[in-house]
Amino acid sequence: MYLTNMCFGRHTGKLNFLVAKRERVMGMKVTWLGHAAFLIEGSKKVVIDPFLSGNPSCPLKPQDLHVDVVAVTHGHGDHLGDAAEISTQCNAPVICIHELSRYLFTQGVNAIGMNIGGTAEVRGVKFTMVNAVHSADVEENGRLISTGCSAGFVVEMDGVRIYHTGDTDVFTDMQLIGELYSPDIMLLPIGDWYTMGIKGAVKALEFIRPELAIPMHYNTFPAIKQDPMEFKRLAEAQTDVKVVVLNPGESIEYPISI
Ligand code: NI
Ligand code: MN
Repeated sequence: MYLTNMCFGRHTGKLNFLVAKRERVMGMKVTWLGHAAFLIEGSKKVVIDPFLSGNPSCPLKPQDLHVDVVAVTHGHGDHLGDAAEISTQCNAPVICIHELSRYLFTQGVNAIGMNIGGTAEVRGVKFTMVNAVHSADVEENGRLISTGCSAGFVVEMDGVRIYHTGDTDVFTDMQLIGELYSPDIMLLPIGDWYTMGIKGAVKALEFIRPELAIPMHYNTFPAIKQDPMEFKRLAEAQTDVKVVVLNPGESIEYPISI
């Protein structure tokens, strides 16, 4: 698999392509696995919303992952994805909202439930669950099972904070999330139809004011076709946020300090 690695200086905002010695850079590696799935690698490894086997754009199979924790924002199939299989194979707990954890428990999954506003430390990684404006049921054999509401996570590891919004529209309380948790990196949907589109996502960046943003939840299927470069152009014209457009399988590295 090809991985393109890019490195950002935290205070310079400059983008440098690392061609050598990247193993000497301390920091966080964030890999987009397509759709809303991200692999975050620092001193621990976390996968969020691992929809891999059903997503043709994902470069990895569930068996390729070796993670410490699986985080799931809500019960929709394009987020819950392969969480159960990865959890079992890696002996990694699934962190998610309480009702979804109860459902996963009935499926034999080691799930840890929490709720919005709380912070849970799991295997040395801090997960703060925050609001999302979206629905959340699990669909099983054509039947809907209530699994709580939809959420986002601010993940803190090695001093870096990454805000994965989950599926959501923009909402003004994002200002509070920005104020309380000061995310360095924001992962946010731009696909429209099921979530906010480009216009809403640019407004969300204004509320959160991260250093970097990576768009997600677009171009997986026709209903959510979007031009991420249009998002980048508008966001960088209207905010100070640096937008990094990745292809599935590509990574960025975010140094803590160099
Ligand atoms: Ni959803
Ligand atoms: Mn979704």
